[in-house]
Amino acid sequence: MRVILLGAPGAGKGTQARFITESKGIPQISTGDMLRAAVKAESPLGLKVKAVMASGGLVSDQIIIDLVKERIAQPDCAKGFLFDGFPRTIVQAEALIQNNVEIDLVLEIDVADEEIIKRMSGRRMHPASGRTYHIDYNPPKQEGVDDETGEPLIQRDDDKEETVRNRLEVFHDQTQPLIEFYKKQAGDGQCRFATVNGIGSVESITAQVLEAIA
Ligand code: AP5
Repeated sequence: MRVILLGAPGAGKGTQARFITESKGIPQISTGDMLRAAVKAESPLGLKVKAVMASGGLVSDQIIIDLVKERIAQPDCAKGFLFDGFPRTIVQAEALIQNNVEIDLVLEIDVADEEIIKRMSGRRMHPASGRTYHIDYNPPKQEGVDDETGEPLIQRDDDKEETVRNRLEVFHDQTQPLIEFYKKQAGDGQCRFATVNGIGSVESITAQVLEAIA
């Protein structure tokens, strides 16, 4: 199964992605996690994208398309995958079509901007796995450490309020048009499209997500 998770920054894509990958036995492909790993490793790619990520802007389409093409050619993607944070522009979505990458389901998680701002300030992340928590809404079992490894959690550099507002603007401008794009694709029978209301407990949203991917 090939799934795209679509939603604003902080809508809960990463949080719900782990339930989908567990339920379907497919890998999560998070372009954000891949880019953060490159920045941390100070690789040539990381050095190229560091500043634009810190500002909340988008990395160039060609860099992302090359990264994704290489990733989905790996053997663990043979049975499908979950795109988290990709595609993010019409150009990226069209690149999938040009490369004959068919998608089964596009799942939108819908959350209003003001809720997003609240969520981001409390987000904490386990850098090695990309697992996310929230200090109030989705806390780790033990404060400040990852549930599975016991390693310390960090706050992302781009979770400051001003940067989050910029990321939201970029989302409305460049990524939201994908909703209409994929609704049209669904209307033409190319894929399924579903929207989940992303406000509520993590568990209640997971239930809706699992129903949509069944
Ligand atoms: P990326 O890492 O993809 O960030 P994003 O899309 O902005 O999404 P986030 O990871 O911030 O949020 P999320 O929806 O996964 O929310 P989460 O589950 O953590 O991208 C980062 C940067 O990389 C971009 O800005 C760009 O520069 C670059 N980039 C990446 N992909 C790119 C691409 N394709 N093209 C170009 N550039 C690209 O949840 C958020 C918080 O809310 C957490 O604390 C969580 O615990 C909490 N939470 C979750 N669910 C709930 C709930 N139901 N109730 C209350 N709190 C909740």
